Amino acid sequence: MIAACPLEALPPGASFRLDGENPIALFRTEDGQIFAIDDTCTHQDASLSDGWLDGCEVECPLHSSRFDLRTGEVDAPPAKRAVRTHRVVVDGGTVFVEPSGCDG
Ligand code: FES
Repeated sequence: MIAACPLEALPPGASFRLDGENPIALFRTEDGQIFAIDDTCTHQDASLSDGWLDGCEVECPLHSSRFDLRTGEVDAPPAKRAVRTHRVVVDGGTVFVEPSGCDG
């Protein structure tokens, strides 16, 4: 588990980029759910934490692929491959992420 950010850094509708070897994008939906996915789009080198959150989907800022935050699946091209999802736990006002394995 990695301490990603304080919960208040992630208000509803916001995103947070957790830098690292494989950057992770955290999103808090308008209804308060928190999701973590790979930050780098599977199409080209765009940061999904810079994208637009719409319900439980994020739209890539570069070519508008849409990824489902719950599954990582692509809902709109041009991306074809899903992003990985990562487990999120909120404890004591801190958001923790458990990165998935490389083949997840
Ligand atoms: S870089 Fe994300 S859709 Fe092209």
